[in-house]
Amino acid sequence: TSELTVQALAAELVVPETEVIKILFMKGIAANINQVLDIETATMVAEELDCEVETQEEESEARKVSEMLDVEDLEKLQARPPVVTIMGHVDHGKTTLLDAIRETKVAQGEAGGITQHIGAYHVDLPHEDGIQQVVFLDTPGHEAFTAMRARGTRVTDIAILVVAADDGVRPQTLEAISHARAAEVPIIVAINKIDKEGAQLDRVRQELSEHNLVPEDWGGETVMVPVSALKGENLDTLLEMVLLVAEVEDLQANPDRPAKGTVIEAHLDKAKGPVASLLVQNGTLRVGDVLVAGSVFGKVRAMVDDRGARVETASPSFAVEVLGMSEVPAAGEEFEVFVDEKEARSQAGQRTDQQRHTRLQQAMASRRVSLNALS
Ligand code: GTP
Ligand code: MG
Repeated sequence: TSELTVQALAAELVVPETEVIKILFMKGIAANINQVLDIETATMVAEELDCEVETQEEESEARKVSEMLDVEDLEKLQARPPVVTIMGHVDHGKTTLLDAIRETKVAQGEAGGITQHIGAYHVDLPHEDGIQQVVFLDTPGHEAFTAMRARGTRVTDIAILVVAADDGVRPQTLEAISHARAAEVPIIVAINKIDKEGAQLDRVRQELSEHNLVPEDWGGETVMVPVSALKGENLDTLLEMVLLVAEVEDLQANPDRPAKGTVIEAHLDKAKGPVASLLVQNGTLRVGDVLVAGSVFGKVRAMVDDRGARVETASPSFAVEVLGMSEVPAAGEEFEVFVDEKEARSQAGQRTDQQRHTRLQQAMASRRVSLNALS
């Protein structure tokens, strides 16, 4: 447990230290900036400043639900599909695995067999009495993820780490592990290409163990499923594991509010203009909505789902291609729908590279602080 000084509390509340000292003084407490405060006193100060106080328990609960949720959402939460990212070294079979899951043939149609951009795919999996939808993200060289990581955005709920059994742990495998860890996302390992002659499952398990991914049957906690994406072997087990992990995660969002989410990828189409793949993480996105993605303004002209079908709405966890952005937003940027178009335009204007600053101001405006340092 760390000690909370007047100085630290002032920083946490984003007020001058003198302000805190003044409040303490009014309550008959003479304090200097290095004075250590107990939780009651610190809470009293925060309340005097009209700051909402979160205990650590509440905060970790909120974080568990998602960083995209606001306090107001907590009463209207509904289950949402898990967003699963397939990561791994080049050629280890990410796209083939996703194809097998979708039972389509995306890899064959790709130029040179290399994934060109992040695709987001919705898959209906049979589960218990009904159907569970899962959204899969296929990733290229992780540039977008690097961008998202730099921005501190979290888009995925579960990572499937594909490791080819004939090649083992490679540099991008490690990169993927570190991405997933940074995002605090559970990792399910798919040991792929088990149909191949040179497949060495135990070597892969050993190598992963050296990086603290220890298989369950070796006494560790990491789910590792040997599969053949090419032959479609053992994919059922892999998907069962995905659903199991998703259930534990208890994923929720509030569909009944303007949408918020992340730009998965974007490009300029000669005919259509800027095209952005948006992952809705909270709320519902609708045709006609006015939004800001990073510093780019947009008005949703049309939306297309992963099968190329036009859609009118996109609910939490769904990804759509959106037409109507004024420019091409950067992958990894957060987007937000504004009820008021004028407000959106001015927000877009303001949000240049000062975005971080703006966010801080918003945080101050909402007066929502964490007294984490207290416990
Ligand atoms: P990048 O997108 O370029 O990073 O590659 P990727 O990880 O998506 O790999 P991809 O699915 O394109 O597969 C690479 C090669 O491995 C292709 O020739 C696949 O046919 C082959 N492959 C994938 N899975 C299996 C498998 O389970 N068994 C065998 N034998 N080959 C596989
Ligand atoms: Mg691929």
